[in-house]
Amino acid sequence: MSNTIQQYKDYVMTGFLKSVAPIVIDHAKDCTITDVNGREYLDCFAGISVVNAGHNNPQVIEAAKKQMDKLIHCQSYLYHAQPVGDLAEKIAHIAPRGLTKTFFGNGGAEAIEGAMKLARLYSGKHEFIALHASFHGRSWGTLSITGNQGRKKRGGPYAPGIAFAPVPYTYRSNWPKDPEECGRQCAKALEDVIRFSTAGDVAAFISEPVWGEGGIIVPPSNYFKEIKKVLDKHGILFICDEVQTGFARTGKMFAIEHFGVEPDILCTAKGIADGFPLSGYTTRPEIAAAYKPGDHLSTFGGNPVSCAAALANIEFMEKENLAARATETGNYAMAKLRALQKQNPLIGEVRGLGLMIGVELIKDEKLTPATAEAEAVRDALFRQGVLVGVGGVNGNVIRFQPPLIITKKQIDQAINAFAEALSEVNQPATV
Ligand SMILES: Cc1ncc(COP(=O)(O)O)c(C=O)c1O
Repeated sequence: MSNTIQQYKDYVMTGFLKSVAPIVIDHAKDCTITDVNGREYLDCFAGISVVNAGHNNPQVIEAAKKQMDKLIHCQSYLYHAQPVGDLAEKIAHIAPRGLTKTFFGNGGAEAIEGAMKLARLYSGKHEFIALHASFHGRSWGTLSITGNQGRKKRGGPYAPGIAFAPVPYTYRSNWPKDPEECGRQCAKALEDVIRFSTAGDVAAFISEPVWGEGGIIVPPSNYFKEIKKVLDKHGILFICDEVQTGFARTGKMFAIEHFGVEPDILCTAKGIADGFPLSGYTTRPEIAAAYKPGDHLSTFGGNPVSCAAALANIEFMEKENLAARATETGNYAMAKLRALQKQNPLIGEVRGLGLMIGVELIKDEKLTPATAEAEAVRDALFRQGVLVGVGGVNGNVIRFQPPLIITKKQIDQAINAFAEALSEVNQPATV
């Protein structure tokens, strides 16, 4: 056994996972990961939707190296650091209208917690509404607004003042099949939650624009417009969690742009810096002004190297038009997966936006989740050298979220391997 694998067993906390994939990764480039034995893997999970511009993108690396030679850390809030200013200005230009001021942290959960704190300070209100099937992080505050028992178990009780509204998971809920009607009914359900499950002291509604960990659930096109009407009526802020969907993943720089509404606070992380640790939340100046001296800080937040990498990453995305590419390649992949669905009853639904694609596996016509099968498919793909994720509230959704630079040829390779994995899993066990 490799020394690294033994070191993990002896010295790294991994008890929160069923297993760690039995490879030691040596290096990665674009969509290919290579292990210490020289075996290559096609990465269709991008480090959980992080390396949107590809592994070790040369422009990102060059910007980071240049910055490393000059300054790694100075405390980016006590003093001014040029990459922080440059990146914040860039984000002000690409973020939804009016969102011009950013706080930078290190990871997604930190951004969400900061946004919640700021929403409370600005509104003077204290409660939150989140959604079923949502995921917002692993800190206590973000687990408190996460709508998934699988993630919350053994961590409660959670923060008070949080109510949950239903998510438009049309494949599994009893929502009307007509998407527009589903959108309207979800808004009505939100109205009921405000009325019956809160004290009328709601600071913010928080939602992902596409629910990632929940199973790549894409809302009806009118959903957020209907929701926003309710929020505006009750003076509730909209915090949009774009930690997973941001930075061209869904075919727009930010996924909320698909739905014709503007959030009050936009949270970002994962794809922001192509693998360098960084997160942010961006808002309107009057909301940002709710912070008063002493209210907030982060030691590593706004690290100059991460910020320089993020700026190069965003410029690469714009130059290469990665958002349009994600739409084109994503539609290509989904068409192929839907063709595969016709021959394969294990596939219940193929859904997604851009290169955020979920394939929900079912056992029968009652839509019984094929949870063990999903893990078996992922493992079979791994043996074939293709990395994918498994997620969803029932653990039965195969997640394709590759770097956005993936080629159609590589998509073909992944889907051929997926077809083989499905037939391997469908084989009756031999005794
Ligand atoms: C939508 C969403 N929000 C927040 C988080 C938490 O991000 P992090 O793991 O960087 O804290 C995640 C992580 O998967 C996420 O998908």
